Amino acid sequence: MSIKRTDALRVAVLASGRGSNLQAVIDAIEAGTVQANIVAVISNKKDAPALERAKQHGLPALFVDPKPYTGRPDSREAYDRALLDVLKQHDVELILLAGYMKIVTRVLVETFMNRMMNIHPSLLPSFPGLEVQKKAIDWGCKLAGCTVHFVTEGVDEGPIILQAAVPILDDDTPNTLAARILEQEHKIYPRAIQLFAEGRLQVDGRRVFIENGKPKGEAVISPS
Ligand code: GRF
Repeated sequence: MSIKRTDALRVAVLASGRGSNLQAVIDAIEAGTVQANIVAVISNKKDAPALERAKQHGLPALFVDPKPYTGRPDSREAYDRALLDVLKQHDVELILLAGYMKIVTRVLVETFMNRMMNIHPSLLPSFPGLEVQKKAIDWGCKLAGCTVHFVTEGVDEGPIILQAAVPILDDDTPNTLAARILEQEHKIYPRAIQLFAEGRLQVDGRRVFIENGKPKGEAVISPS
């Protein structure tokens, strides 16, 4: 049974780059299809375009500098502790990783277990990591896609919430394929957030069940 909230879900977005997924979430919130408030956009890169996008929409844009923590044996954990302070100050309920180019540690994972999502441009568990569109083409896959998943300590390993598949065309380059996948990322990330906001995601081990989610039993064949 999902419990209807009367207040909007408090979300923080962690981003290191251009922030197109952040923009998709902002747009969905502004359009009213996602009931959430972005209470902080945080970056480890001072000049991340994602921070600029946040400012343009009047959202708190925060740069948390990794430099004071580098060189320490626990540099990643120490950085995440600094992030945790900021997240707590903002009463964050859900973290979204959106092109966040640092590996998060157990400091964040344990506090935000099943409350931190990531979007990844492959059909996980195929192709975790980087340059995954090139890897899918080189492997000869006929389908590629994207995955929204909860974040665990293993990179791109957490329970899968939603996936979207796209065909790989004969003349695809990593860039053309990435663009086709990105269109779907911008659809499924807001959808996953809204499902979370509605309390409709139940995690059971590796599996995420969606209350009243009715996947159609249709095959996707490529080439059709
Ligand atoms: C996206 O492809 C996302 O799947 C991956 O990093 C990229 C970020 O793009 N994790 P953007 O910064 O959201 O435009």
